[in-house]
Amino acid sequence: MGKLAVEALRGISLDISAGDFVSVAGPSGSGKTTMMNIIGLIDTPTGGTLKVDGREAASLNRRELARMRREYIGFVFQSFNLLPVLTVFENVELPLTIGKKKSGRKENRERVEYLLKEVGLEDRHHHKPTELSGGQQQRVAIARALVTQPRIVIADEPTANLDSANGERVLELMKSINREEGTTFIFSTHDPDIWKLANHVIFLRDGLIEMEQRR
Ligand SMILES: Nc1ncnc2c1ncn2[C@@H]1O[C@H](COP(=O)(O)OP(=O)(O)O)[C@@H](O)[C@H]1O
Ligand SMILES: [Mg+2]
Repeated sequence: MGKLAVEALRGISLDISAGDFVSVAGPSGSGKTTMMNIIGLIDTPTGGTLKVDGREAASLNRRELARMRREYIGFVFQSFNLLPVLTVFENVELPLTIGKKKSGRKENRERVEYLLKEVGLEDRHHHKPTELSGGQQQRVAIARALVTQPRIVIADEPTANLDSANGERVLELMKSINREEGTTFIFSTHDPDIWKLANHVIFLRDGLIEMEQRR
């Protein structure tokens, strides 16, 4: 922030196990986004080390980082970040059309159809994002995050722009995918109703881990 250094995270040390349903909880400004972006290989920490699947992030070059983000990690954002000019179907398909590992068109279509059914939007293939409610848009974003079959999904306050009924639906969807496919989910929230559904909760305050709960 200009010349003023802000320490967003300080002395964080934690392990996240494969297959966990993890919540990063804490008030606004506590460092949730910074931590999720570091875990998701979007930001690099100024100190310390991060290992994802046993590989040290600092040892990966830009191309390797991009590849890992693309093939290994799915992202869901608070404001959905769907591309407005593309249809629902095209938004979900997009990650399959970029990158080197191109699978067959028929295979892609079946994966997109399967996921849109999973998120309850099988009748919305040809709609544009603006023709959907917030909850529906977030479910499209979840389908998009899952289309490459990532091992980890990182969701930064995925329910913050949703009413409680839609927030609950989005969370239940993530939970059922976690249970059925073993995908690791890491989602941030400041809402107790949301974090209590996680089996590993990391409470952040002022860039520090205030408390950790596993159940
Ligand atoms: N681009 C930035 N430049 C400087 N400070 C930032 C920037 N982004 C976030 N911060 C600061 O880092 C801290 C953590 O922010 P953030 O990770 O966004 O928290 P949260 O997601 O929990 O609201 C806050 O003190 C915030 O003001
Ligand atoms: Mg944030």
